[in-house]
Amino acid sequence: MDKAINKVKTSFHSELESCKTSENLEQLRIKYLGRKGQLTDLFNQFGALSNKEKPKYGKTLNILKSDLTASYNNKLATFNSDQGSDDKRDFSLPGYALPKGNIHPLEHVTDEIKSIFQSIGFSVAYGPEIDDDYHNFEALNVPKHHPARDMQDTFFIDSDVVLRTHTSNVQIHLMENQDPPLRHICCGRVFRNEAVSYKSFCLFHQVEGLVINESSSFAEMKGTLEYFAKEMFGKDTKMRFRPSYFPFTEPSAEVDIWNDKLNQWMEILGCGMVNPNVLENVGYDSEKYQGFAFGMGIERIAMIKYGIRDIRLFYQNDKRFLEQF
Ligand code: PHE
Repeated sequence: MDKAINKVKTSFHSELESCKTSENLEQLRIKYLGRKGQLTDLFNQFGALSNKEKPKYGKTLNILKSDLTASYNNKLATFNSDQGSDDKRDFSLPGYALPKGNIHPLEHVTDEIKSIFQSIGFSVAYGPEIDDDYHNFEALNVPKHHPARDMQDTFFIDSDVVLRTHTSNVQIHLMENQDPPLRHICCGRVFRNEAVSYKSFCLFHQVEGLVINESSSFAEMKGTLEYFAKEMFGKDTKMRFRPSYFPFTEPSAEVDIWNDKLNQWMEILGCGMVNPNVLENVGYDSEKYQGFAFGMGIERIAMIKYGIRDIRLFYQNDKRFLEQF
């Protein structure tokens, strides 16, 4: 019996010493002072003692009980007073991770497109999002009342100023300001007054390309765009050129990329040899110079690359969408 009493006493005190939280302390209380705890055990053993032994152990057990209870209460008091203090900071807690921003998927794809073209000698140019009718249409061989204007539903600021409907306006600014040869791309926002749906939005992004020199050809343009598509979507990408029409290029084509996820061809760009009328409009000698141009939709490319089915997702700023990139 003496042994058992001593064991309870020493192990209680050493465990009490290592209690760090009030939860620890409560567990200790249950283990030793609880209804089924070790102290109760000792009192049960006491009941089985002979009448001769009882007085001695009765006293020892009572002393033990008050010792344990008092020590427990003291410790509890220190915990409570800690909690009551003004300084509730726990410097051992790990810090909060600060939320980190993401690069928008369109920005990501634009960067990739830029670096692919930069790697084959294109420079990056910029141009205005609000422009006059002349640079957005007329100089590009789209005179007023030309039916081709229907291809691009336009937001007018006034009768002569528009939100650019494509990045092709930058072709004109570039050629007005520089002599050939030219080898540029330009990325930016464009605006069209279209019905909003899963595949079209009133605002989207394009990358325009323009190459002007004395020797460029349709074959060189095809090679350039094929190189781009393989770099962008992988070596096994299926692409096709379709004959098309743009007033500012002749001949013209459109490029489709096979979208595995949607199981269909998706148009990603228009292209063609720069129409000699456009060259003449900026004062280039169209007998001497020739070139090709292309314009691609960045949203389309991002949709194919990431398997996104709804263009509107790019503009809703939904973190659940954006955090995936
Ligand atoms: N600007 C045309 C469009 O937005 C694309 C294009 C650019 C086509 C350059 C040919 C050459 O639809």
